[in-house]
Amino acid sequence: MKALAYEKAHSLDAFAVELVDTAEPRLRDADLLVGIRAVGINPGEAMIRQMRTAEPGGRVILGWEFAGVVQAVGPEATGFAVGDRVMGTGDMARDGAWAERLAVDHRVVARIPDELSFADAASLPIGGLTAWEALFRDQEGLTAGIDRVLIVGGAGSVGTLATQLLKSRTSALVVSTASRPESREWSTRMGADVVVDHTGDVPGQLRAAGVDRIDLVVSTSGTAGNVGWIAETLRPFGHLAAVDLSGPVDLGPLIAKSASLHTETVFSRFLAGGDLAAQGKVLTELASDVVAGRLRPIATTVLDGLNAGTMRAAHELAESRRTIGKTVITL
Ligand SMILES: NC(=O)c1ccc[n+]([C@@H]2O[C@H](COP(=O)([O-])OP(=O)(O)OC[C@H]3O[C@@H](n4cnc5c(N)ncnc54)[C@H](OP(=O)(O)O)[C@@H]3O)[C@@H](O)[C@H]2O)c1
Repeated sequence: MKALAYEKAHSLDAFAVELVDTAEPRLRDADLLVGIRAVGINPGEAMIRQMRTAEPGGRVILGWEFAGVVQAVGPEATGFAVGDRVMGTGDMARDGAWAERLAVDHRVVARIPDELSFADAASLPIGGLTAWEALFRDQEGLTAGIDRVLIVGGAGSVGTLATQLLKSRTSALVVSTASRPESREWSTRMGADVVVDHTGDVPGQLRAAGVDRIDLVVSTSGTAGNVGWIAETLRPFGHLAAVDLSGPVDLGPLIAKSASLHTETVFSRFLAGGDLAAQGKVLTELASDVVAGRLRPIATTVLDGLNAGTMRAAHELAESRRTIGKTVITL
């Protein structure tokens, strides 16, 4: 089959991902074989491309956000049949979805409702799961006592889906940060009650908007640089959920507030042996929210054709850190 692959970790300037012929994925017992129809592109994949090198003689295939059609079902993969339209993530220790076909554990997959195109479905899994786990952890809703949430980077994929989840599933006040007219407009359209500019005096803007305390900050971007003002906005015993890997974070300002720090990696259940089926369930919830009109897919840039050109364009956007919504490539 054809796949987009590379050998050595590299920068955007030396972009070396290319379309190659590669062996078919090897199905494990609990796997589905999925014919890929669309992939979502994430800043995390651009970061891995810069850090991960293949074993000698091998190659790296990234991509853990997909929508497609089931082509084969492993003997222990229950609940799915050949022909089902599905979306999901995957295991970052295995080959990803930048390929014609993917072998993926059925427990991190959900059916795509008829109402949803492949491109729209591929815009949801990573941002949706990350937002869900950052907000609700492994529960059904917010921790008691959280009713004012600040989302740093409100227009990115995680921020956009966090905003929508909060507005559709909780009564929390949602404050988003955005620094440009287009990201402000998007954040408001996605449901944010208040939008403040993360390049300005955020605590001051919150006071001016009549928001005197924040219970939970979900930080999707620039956490290390922003932690000072993030802590300033938090009430004592408030919470910070950080989903980005932006370098060492000084915990001092958070300790002064007795704040709780939550981290989030969408692959933690794979990496640490957790309940994989919980992810399939969350994806099923997101799909039903879309059908019920409570959640909008977020594919803002759709590029046609899985090739080095579209992937490079998608990575340029991801590395700009100015993405609004989600970039998707269709096959
Ligand atoms: N933990 C996980 O499993 C997981 C999963 C998915 C993503 N992530 C990480 O989550 C982060 C967000 O990803 P994403 O896909 O939502 O979108 P993204 O492309 O990283 O975010 C774009 C948004 O971030 C804002 N932004 C940029 N620099 C900022 C800064 N210094 N302070 C505050 N906001 C800033 C921008 O807003 P303006 O344009 O308005 O300035 C832009 O709208 C990435 O670091 C990604 O690697 C983690």
